[in-house]
Amino acid sequence: MKIKSANFVISNTDISKCPKADKAEFAFIGRSNVGKSSLINCLTERKSLAKTSSTPGKTQLINHFEINNNWYLVDLPGYGYAKVSKTSRSKWGKMIEEYLKKRENLLCTFVLVDSRHEPQKVDMEFMNWMGKNGIPFVIIFTKSDKQSHTKLQSNIAKYRKIMRKNWEELPTMIATSSDDGRGREDVLDFIEEVAEG
Ligand code: GTP
Ligand code: MG
Repeated sequence: MKIKSANFVISNTDISKCPKADKAEFAFIGRSNVGKSSLINCLTERKSLAKTSSTPGKTQLINHFEINNNWYLVDLPGYGYAKVSKTSRSKWGKMIEEYLKKRENLLCTFVLVDSRHEPQKVDMEFMNWMGKNGIPFVIIFTKSDKQSHTKLQSNIAKYRKIMRKNWEELPTMIATSSDDGRGREDVLDFIEEVAEG
C-alpha cells in the first residue's frame, strides 16, 4: 500500500473527543520505549509524525493520525514503566481500557513487544486481558535489527509455545524494524486487508 498522506489529527485523554468513528482504525500499544511511535513513523515514512524518545514515557495521550484520508493510526502511551506513579498508572488503565473496549471503528490493535526479550509477564497479562475482552490484536516484534535472526526466531517460538497453552488460535505475528524497515510491508498489507474487510 502506498502512503499518500499522513496527518496528525488530535491528541486527547478522552474517547469522546476522538475523531468521529467513521473510518477504519488501527492502534499501537505496548511497553514504554518498545517502539510504537517509531513504527508509526516508519510505516508512514514520516520522520517525526509521532514523537519518539529514548526516554520511556514519551507518548502520554491518545494520538490520532489520518492516513490517505481514509483510515486512522493511533499512537497510545506505553505501559509497564516502573517510574510512573500509582495514580498515573491507574489513569492510564482507565483511559486505555475505555478506548480499547469502546472505540467502535477500532479494527485491530498492534501489541508491540521487544524482540530481544523472552515473553514478559506484563505483556502476557495485557494480551490475556485483550483476549478476555474479545479485542482483536496482532503481535509485533520490534527492534528486530538489534539481534540475530536465530535469537529473534527463538523468542518468537517462545511466545507461540506459551500462548498455545491458553489460546485456541494464535494471533498474527510480525517482526519489524523501524531502523531498516523490515516488516513494514507486512504491517501495511495486513492493514489493507483488514480495512477492506
Ligand atoms: P513511549 O511513547 O515512551 O511509550 O515509547 P514508544 O514505544 O513510542 O517508543 P519510541 O518509538 O519513542 O522509541 C523508543 C526508542 O527506541 C527510541 O530511542 C527509538 O529510536 C528506538 N527504536 C524504536 N524502534 C526501533 C527499531 O526498530 N530499531 C532500533 N534499533 N531502535 C528503535
Ligand atoms: Mg511513543
